[in-house]
Amino acid sequence: MIEPKSEEQARAAAETPAAASYYERHIFFCLNERKGDEDCCARHGAQEAFDRCKLQIKAAGLSGPGKVRVNKAGCLDRCAAGPVAVVYPEAVWYSYVDNQDIDEIVASHLINGKVVERLLVPAGQGR
Ligand code: FES
Repeated sequence: MIEPKSEEQARAAAETPAAASYYERHIFFCLNERKGDEDCCARHGAQEAFDRCKLQIKAAGLSGPGKVRVNKAGCLDRCAAGPVAVVYPEAVWYSYVDNQDIDEIVASHLINGKVVERLLVPAGQGR
C-alpha cells in the first residue's frame, strides 16, 4: 500500500539513487479524439475518467514524486479495447466503461497495488 508522504519525504525518496522510479505508479489515459466517424477513446468518457482518477488520487494525498502520477496520453494504439489506460511500472492495461471501474482501479491498483483482473485488456487486442 502507498502511504501518503509529506512533499519533502516524497522528493527525498524520489531523488535517492536506489529509487527505481520517480513515481511509484504512473497511469496514462488515452484521451485521443478523432475527427469524422472513426471511433476513439474520447468518445467513450475518457476525459471524465481521467478527471475522476486525478481528483481521487489528489484527495487521497497520493499525487507527486514517489507516489502516483495521473497523465493524459494520445492514442496508445489499443483502440479496439478503448477506452484504455495503462499503469506502470507493472505495464497493466485496463479497459473501463464507467465510474465504478475507475474507482476500482484507483482503490485496488493505484493505492493497494492489486491488479483489477476483470478490467484487463485481453492480450494481443490492439488497434
Ligand atoms: S484512440 Fe485510445 S487507444 Fe487509440
